[in-house]
Amino acid sequence: MAAPEQGNQTSITEFVLLGFGTPPELQILLFLLFLLIYIATMAGNILIMVLVVTAQHLHTPMYLFLGNLSCLETCYTSTILPRLLASVLTGDRTISVTGCFIQYYIFGSLTAAECLLLSVMSYDRYLAIVKPLHYAAHMSGRSCLQLAAGSWVGGFLVNSITAVLISQLIFCGPNAIDHFFCDFIPLVKLSCNDHQQMEMLAFTVSFIFSLVPFLLTVMSYISIIATILRIPSTTGKQKAFSTCSSHLIVVTLYYGTLLIAYLFPTVHTLRDFKKVLSVVYTVLTPLINPLIYTLRNKEVKEALRKACRKCIFGH
Ligand SMILES: *[C@@H]1O[C@H](CO)[C@@H](O)[C@H](O)[C@H]1NC(C)=O
Repeated sequence: MAAPEQGNQTSITEFVLLGFGTPPELQILLFLLFLLIYIATMAGNILIMVLVVTAQHLHTPMYLFLGNLSCLETCYTSTILPRLLASVLTGDRTISVTGCFIQYYIFGSLTAAECLLLSVMSYDRYLAIVKPLHYAAHMSGRSCLQLAAGSWVGGFLVNSITAVLISQLIFCGPNAIDHFFCDFIPLVKLSCNDHQQMEMLAFTVSFIFSLVPFLLTVMSYISIIATILRIPSTTGKQKAFSTCSSHLIVVTLYYGTLLIAYLFPTVHTLRDFKKVLSVVYTVLTPLINPLIYTLRNKEVKEALRKACRKCIFGH
């Protein structure tokens, strides 16, 4: 009696992404809000990329990594927001199974790449502040390129493991995903496979994904802060701290929300709260990062001022 079972399995060709469960009269408000966020995120991150690539004095590892982070975040929001916007506008919340897997694969890979890049960025700050004499030797143009490329490639490679796991899942209905994009845990919850085993796997994978780079980042910052505290003069302390404070804010915000959202996959009572956290790390951090870096950073502001002058006066 294999035939009916098979029919059952193939009957699911699309999922329904339930989204936020907003009442219809608020849909247009939600649409405008996310549209505004999307435009601002793209504008801010593209501006940073352009500044980093064009301004000569920003061609240092720290800013090249920042440019890469902005590039990651432009892609990252683009895997989620355009689709979300379309579904809020048209009311069509379905997504094909293939589309869902592709969204998951790209989003998951970029998340992993972002974690890696954030730890690379904190390693860069660690070298600059804790081992300033070795900085030039350790952060040559070549190793900078290797670290940046390694984050991208590493993210996609590491996420291929979960992609293989996901492709093993069997979906036999229902097909409603209680989330606003296709993510690993909601998909596992929906499958007819052994949940316990799958959630354990999911836990292990997110553990490796986020916790290892997170711990590397925390360790870098512990030695950075210990070093800064040992600087005798107050101005020296402030100067050293100002070069890493923006990154520290970004890292705290990103990991804070990501870890809470992923490390407790089985706590059902936190479901709506976790949706809000997902909005923070998928939608709000990419919006806020360029703001943090441009508003808090003299060199980026200087590059921005120069670029504006060039645009307006032509020199
Ligand atoms: C990303 O990093 C590489 C290597 O450091 C650099 O050559 C490239 O310009 C960076 N990309 C952006 C958009 O900043």
